[in-house]
Formats: sequence, C-alpha cells, structure tokens
Amino acid sequence: MDREAKQAALDQLNSEWSTKDLPLKANASRAVPGEGNPNTDILFIGEAPGKNEDEQGKPFVGAAGKFLNELIGLIGLQREDIFIANIIKHRPPGNRDPLPEEIEAYAPWLAQQIEIINPPLIVTLGRFSMAYLLGPTFSITKIHGQPKRTKSGRVVVPMYHPAAALYNGSLRPILATDFQKIPKVLQLIKTGQTTTKEAAVPETATQKALL
Ligand code: URA
Repeated sequence: MDREAKQAALDQLNSEWSTKDLPLKANASRAVPGEGNPNTDILFIGEAPGKNEDEQGKPFVGAAGKFLNELIGLIGLQREDIFIANIIKHRPPGNRDPLPEEIEAYAPWLAQQIEIINPPLIVTLGRFSMAYLLGPTFSITKIHGQPKRTKSGRVVVPMYHPAAALYNGSLRPILATDFQKIPKVLQLIKTGQTTTKEAAVPETATQKALL
C-alpha cells in the first residue's frame, strides 16, 4: 500500500471504531486514534491519552509530548516523519492506569493500525505497550533499548515512557541513549541483519491475532 492508500485505510478504520461501544468512551471528550506519516519507518506506541490529548484529539501533545519531540529530533527526525499511536484511545479517568479488560477492548484497534502501517520498527513507550507486544514477563528496567522480535517477526524496541522521565530526571539520558540506537537498528532491519530472537509467548486472543 502506498501512503495515500494507508491513510485511507486508517481513516476507514477510525470511522468504524468511532461507532463502537468502548469502555472509556463515555468519560472522554474525543478519541485519540494516533497521527503521523502512515508510511513511516517507525511506529511509536504509548499508553493512553491524557488531558491535553483528550482536548485536542492528538497523541502526545502535553509535557511528555514535548520531550518526545526532543527525542525524535535527536535522531534527525520530526513528528511528521513518524507515526504515534496509543493502545488506549480514550482518556482513562484521572489518567489512571488502564485495566486489563480496557487493554483487551482497545487492542484490536491498535493491531489493525499496525497491520495497515506495517512499519519496519515499532518503539514502545512505557510498560503497557511493551507488555502488550512482547508479553507480560519482561521488565522495562532490564530490556529498555534492546531490540526484540515478536512471533510474527516484527522488531520492537521497548523504551521508558517519556512522562516517567519528567518525574525521574535520571531517565532522561537513558531515553536519549536508547533513542540514539534507533538509526542503527533500522539500518540492520533494512539490510536484513537483525539477529534478535523471538521475545514473547502471546497471552491473549488479541495478541495471537497480532503476533
Ligand atoms: N502519554 C501517552 O501514553 N500517550 C499520550 O498520547 C500522551 C501521554
């Protein structure tokens, strides 16, 4: 699919999902499906919209988003070059952590986005998107910045969530170092040289469909 076809497929997908009954819909102002270049080399996946995202309908537009923009800039890219999505598309009340059943409800939307965008590299931001793609057994403190491969062969580099670095400043240089690995990983993927092993045993029906 070329860029226009991918965008049309994403628009169609979002309009289908906009009519569904989803667990966090009633309390949210609007859905935040994600945005960016559908033909990107890198798909970033965060957790859920916060207050600013809920108001604007766009992902990562608050303080964490500002830091994410800086990190993307470190590797010579701009937001327009990449695609950013979340697992959960409606803001959880008070920004609480998503519940397992909420992840289950929204994950197929994300799975379909991944199918359409079909990016060479996925970067997960935070533990929820990491656990969804790689399974629940990993600890982000152990595997951040390390490329892993899903059962279906997608390469995923898990990273700390940029919001975590706003509370814990020691994570800022770690995130910067991890981001700076992205160009090399992409180059290895494109030249077929990645040696990452399969990372995860799929846990749920949705993960099975995706992985
Ligand atoms: N945090 C996320 O995980 N996603 C957003 O869109 C904003 C903040």
